[in-house]
Amino acid sequence: MKALVYHGPGKKALEDRPMPEIAAPTDAAVKIVKTTICGTDLHILKGDVPTCAPGRILGHEGIGVVDKIGTAVTAFHVGDRVIVSCISSCGKCDYCRRGMYSHCVNGGWILGNKIDGTQAEFVCIPFADTSLYHIPAGADEDALVMLSDILPTGFECGVLNGKVQPGSTIAIVGAGPIGLAALLTAHFYSPAEIIMVDLDDNRLQMSSRFGATAIINNKDGKGVEKIMEMTGGRGVDTAIEAVGMPASFITCQDIVAPGGIIANIGVHGVKADLHLERLWDRNIAITTRLVDTVTTPMLLKTVQSHRIDPKQLITHHFKLDKIMDAYDTFGAAAKTNALKVLIEA
Ligand SMILES: NC(=O)c1ccc[n+]([C@@H]2O[C@H](COP(=O)([O-])OP(=O)(O)OC[C@H]3O[C@@H](n4cnc5c(N)ncnc54)[C@H](O)[C@@H]3O)[C@@H](O)[C@H]2O)c1
Ligand SMILES: [Zn+2]
Ligand SMILES: [Zn+2]
Repeated sequence: MKALVYHGPGKKALEDRPMPEIAAPTDAAVKIVKTTICGTDLHILKGDVPTCAPGRILGHEGIGVVDKIGTAVTAFHVGDRVIVSCISSCGKCDYCRRGMYSHCVNGGWILGNKIDGTQAEFVCIPFADTSLYHIPAGADEDALVMLSDILPTGFECGVLNGKVQPGSTIAIVGAGPIGLAALLTAHFYSPAEIIMVDLDDNRLQMSSRFGATAIINNKDGKGVEKIMEMTGGRGVDTAIEAVGMPASFITCQDIVAPGGIIANIGVHGVKADLHLERLWDRNIAITTRLVDTVTTPMLLKTVQSHRIDPKQLITHHFKLDKIMDAYDTFGAAAKTNALKVLIEA
């Protein structure tokens, strides 16, 4: 089968690889129908994710059809159409029992990281009963690819951890797919103001279409000043960090209001400063989270009922044999205006 293989920092190739085997009775093999590329895949390719070893098939998002099941799989059958969660969860360990699937001692974020991923014709999913989700008949499958990772990530790590409230003022720093997923799902809680910050005008214009009440291009470095002016010198109740760089984490520290929350989503590859000398007396909280995907079934219902339309995030379509082009397009988003690139296997 064809697969996109990581070969160390800066190196990847589309190769022929053997079909995945069912190794444990709880595994299922899934024939991938659609997959996509995540900002985190770019972090892996930069060498930011040391757990991902050369030789690994990348990808942790996608939908597909169950092709084979292990003898212990009971919730899925061959032929079922499924959403693959980016998090594999055994459902039995202490963390899983607490809904913290991301820290499952037998799974967690292993797909396209510690085990082979979804940017291939087939993938083996461990703990299939608790790591796959049924696709309802007649669903728009393109939209559902966004449920593997970005929607639960924006919602859980940004909106839920950031305790977005009716009438509150929030800022989302980073208007990439994850920041936009946080924006889409923040609307569930009716915040009064949603300020989007990025360096890319196209992404900011997209944010306005998705219901941001203000957009700020921080290229001139005046973003903090502008947000403080907009909020009467108070700052924001929730500052969502959706970039993964020291500069954007600093922005969040500069704009958080007393009593507010900084909800970090970004994957950070290098040390970021925490200005406790300015924040110690401001009654703030900082949260971090690896997405648990515990809200996937709820989010699926909101997509099915058209409360949110994550399909708007898809800007480009490719076939699997053109996945190298898909990476080029996604990696040069400032030039290509790419958000999510959909790859058909
Ligand atoms: N916590 C999790 O479980 C989890 C899951 C998935 C992705 N992530 C991470 O979330 C982050 C965002 O993902 P994405 O796919 O949207 O990435 P992305 O790279 O597409 O988007 C980041 C955006 O930030 C903007 N940006 C860069 N520097 C900035 C700055 N100083 N101020 C404001 N904006 C700035 C860029 O222009 C870009 O639009 C990544 O770090 C990704 O790895 C985390
Ligand atoms: Zn991801
Ligand atoms: Zn577990």
